[in-house]
Amino acid sequence: MGSTKYIELKMNIENQLDNNEIEAISLCNQIFPKNDFYFKVEDNVLYAYIKQLDLEKLLSCIAKSDIDSNSILYSIYENINNIGSYGIKGGKRVFVDFNKERKVANRKSKEEERNKFFYARNNEFSKTNNVLPEKFNNQIICADSEEFLKLLPDNCIDLIFTSPPYNFGLDYENSDDSNHWERYFDKLFRIFKECIRVLKYSGRIIVNVQPLFSDYIPSHHIISNFFIQNKMIWKGEILWEKNNYNCKYTAWGSWKSPSSPYLKYTWEFIEIFCKGDLTKRGDKENIDITADEFKQWVVAKWSIAPERRMKEYSHPAMFPEQLVERVLKLFSFKGDIIFDPFNGVGTTTVVAYKLGRNYVGLDISEEYCQKAKERVANTLINMSLFDL
Ligand SMILES: C[S@@+](CC[C@H](N)C(=O)[O-])C[C@H]1O[C@@H](n2cnc3c(N)ncnc32)[C@H](O)[C@@H]1O
Repeated sequence: MGSTKYIELKMNIENQLDNNEIEAISLCNQIFPKNDFYFKVEDNVLYAYIKQLDLEKLLSCIAKSDIDSNSILYSIYENINNIGSYGIKGGKRVFVDFNKERKVANRKSKEEERNKFFYARNNEFSKTNNVLPEKFNNQIICADSEEFLKLLPDNCIDLIFTSPPYNFGLDYENSDDSNHWERYFDKLFRIFKECIRVLKYSGRIIVNVQPLFSDYIPSHHIISNFFIQNKMIWKGEILWEKNNYNCKYTAWGSWKSPSSPYLKYTWEFIEIFCKGDLTKRGDKENIDITADEFKQWVVAKWSIAPERRMKEYSHPAMFPEQLVERVLKLFSFKGDIIFDPFNGVGTTTVVAYKLGRNYVGLDISEEYCQKAKERVANTLINMSLFDL
């Protein structure tokens, strides 16, 4: 066996293998081509040689032999499942040479030549972070974000997650959602400029946005361009697949004709930007994402159903808690300060609270702020009841 061709995992066999385990090993060795995967037992050690395999098939193969859930075979399966680097081809995880076809010689020097995120170089961001004034910490505040943000010092927030009003003409309680587009972007960018200022060095701003396709306004591109112009590093984009769409197929009078087909979008966009540095430092013990969550969520298309409780909260455009949970666990540490300048009825702040982050949430509507406060209070009550 050429050792470079396989990944080798080994585990000491503490108790002798029983008949079911021996049967499972031999079944696996029959089912998987030796070129892809096989088990070997030698001197009380179980070896797994792995090149590529369908992990579900491995699990069902192990489970067939009715072995104990504490079996070494389940442990070795878990270890394979926890290998972080692999490609996927034809339903199999490919652990060896999976990036060979894409190997680029002298990658580092080529990257330097290309000058990655050149647009964010020569920024003047200070690396000195400041403390958020205590009176604002863990608060939901009713204010116009543009006005309130002026009260915060530079570099005091770890992560901003928000969904601004989209200018779709929705019925918000205390703001107009149908402005001339230029006026809309002017206001939004005054707020976002302040958001960049209050963000810590290496902090992140993450914006959920849906363009108004029927106005042919690519808000997600316009907003991204704003951040790029302001020297923020574009870390990436997540597609939030909502799996819902309306039935409009064409502009009037052009059904089944190339004259003006109407493109349908079942998803929204989440744009992620970093201030000064792509790496956010934090203590290991403040990481709360699990290995499985990490593996699933770094695949940047998230299928999450839209929030169904909008009537209950009398808010027309809430995002679901699950969306916030993923963003916060993937991009922030426990104890970080999370800020939402368009907090609505407080989805960001309630999830931040549940996940042990600090929060500041702003909304221009007193009614929405009241509901946001109630959500945190109810969570606190539920958590205390749970403790009893
Ligand atoms: C898309 S909603 C956010 C909903 C929120 N993500 C949630 O789940 O409840 C946008 C919010 O921005 C608020 N808003 C509009 N203009 C504002 C401003 N100038 N300052 C603060 N909030 C504002 C609206 O009241 C609305 O609740």
